[in-house]
Amino acid sequence: MATKDFGAKRIICIDTWNNDAMTEGNRDTWKEFCENTEDFRQFITPVRGFSTLVLEQIRSITSELDLLLIDGDHSYEGVKADWEAYKALLREGSTVVFHDIGWAEGVKRVVQEDVEPFVRESGRLPNMWWGVLAHNP
Ligand SMILES: C[S@@+](CC[C@H](N)C(=O)[O-])C[C@H]1O[C@@H](n2cnc3c(N)ncnc32)[C@H](O)[C@@H]1O
Repeated sequence: MATKDFGAKRIICIDTWNNDAMTEGNRDTWKEFCENTEDFRQFITPVRGFSTLVLEQIRSITSELDLLLIDGDHSYEGVKADWEAYKALLREGSTVVFHDIGWAEGVKRVVQEDVEPFVRESGRLPNMWWGVLAHNP
């Protein structure tokens, strides 16, 4: 699948690329990321660091996100911190996606308590949830 097929102009990827908050422990995953995303390199702006600490850097790149995918630290505190930090970049009609809702209690709780009140439509797969915002969160 080519990125141009779904209309994306830019994909900002935020990660420490150090396998943080993962049960297997820390390791450098930067080379793996580059290899896995090689076909999409022209569209990707990588930002390396902890998500809440690079927020100002993201704001200097864009003030608005069409789509936000949260798939980092799956603890309740981690998911909540990502939602609270990045929701200000979303607008009416923006889509927010959460991975690992099938098993991560923190993801389920944040979606139910903090995200669903802002959503006009939503859908899910066994391990993924998405919603389209009805208004600015
Ligand atoms: C479940 S993996 C998902 C990676 C990627 N979304 C994928 O599907 O291949 C979680 C990733 O989040 C990163 N991570 C964990 N906590 C983070 C944080 N606070 N800020 C930035 N990245 C974080 C880890 O380094 C890891 O690469």
